[in-house]
Amino acid sequence: MVEHRWAHKHLLSIADLSVEDLETVLAKADANFDEARKRPKKGDALRGRTVINVFFESSTRTRSSFEVAGKRLGADVVNISVSTSSVSKGETLLDTVKNLEVMRADAMVIRHQASGAPNFVAAHTRASILNAGDGMHEHPTQALLDALTIRRHFGTLSGLTVAICGDIVHSRVARSNAILLGKTGSKVRLCGPKTMMPREAQELGATTSVHTNLDEAVDGADVVMMLRIQNERVYGPVMASTREYSRTFGLNTRRLEGAKPGAIVMHPGPINRGVELDTRLADGARSVVLEQVEAGVAVRMAALDLCIAANKEIAVS
Ligand code: CP
Repeated sequence: MVEHRWAHKHLLSIADLSVEDLETVLAKADANFDEARKRPKKGDALRGRTVINVFFESSTRTRSSFEVAGKRLGADVVNISVSTSSVSKGETLLDTVKNLEVMRADAMVIRHQASGAPNFVAAHTRASILNAGDGMHEHPTQALLDALTIRRHFGTLSGLTVAICGDIVHSRVARSNAILLGKTGSKVRLCGPKTMMPREAQELGATTSVHTNLDEAVDGADVVMMLRIQNERVYGPVMASTREYSRTFGLNTRRLEGAKPGAIVMHPGPINRGVELDTRLADGARSVVLEQVEAGVAVRMAALDLCIAANKEIAVS
């Protein structure tokens, strides 16, 4: 069998990836995951390369796992955060990136509050750009690490039923996951109050259905993925109260009984315990929340390695 060639110097969205691309990055990430569990050690695939994390929004998991991933591959990793950079003095995104580019950055990992910001930057730089979450658009490495976690549990990404519940309209995680799981042949149920559901929800992914009742969405599901309310993107009232929201759309042990017996509970983090997810479930035997974080390093190693290699190939051809 001819090996599929990864041809993307940037990772901007799941929508850009073919099923073969998904298989390539997940297979590489899966090997990274096993290797890290056996003996985490520093490799040299990216020795002499520079990765710069440019985060215009706060992050715990994505930023630190990109840093660990880069370092585990032997790269030099630099972190820039808005509050301590010259962005706080009015410098533009493009000027920031252009300045980092002449320092010979091979890759920039960008999180930005504006949808499309990484695409804009990618059109103006030689470096590989990896989208670490842009506004309400996409969070491709989150969907990839979720896919890796699901696949390690079920051995497949096809034929499963995945309920994604919560603040769908503001969620780049929901969007990227729905697109990815649609491509791989799993059913996606998007569930949340009408005020948190995008008008085009049905069109997100090839296999998506829309629900406003959590029990209905969870019924017979293999995976229940809960999302936090993205208060940083919410303008105006979207629910009567947090208590009312939790009663109607929070996942608890009783509600999870409707899912398949082997169902897993996922959450991209950060969790608002007691709001969208009962704390006993978050820490319970069916929760794979920390495995998702572990998968994040494996996926980001694979993504950095593939994109930087593709960029090098494009530069010499
Ligand atoms: N899931 C996720 O993106 O978490 P952070 O905001 O902590 O990076």
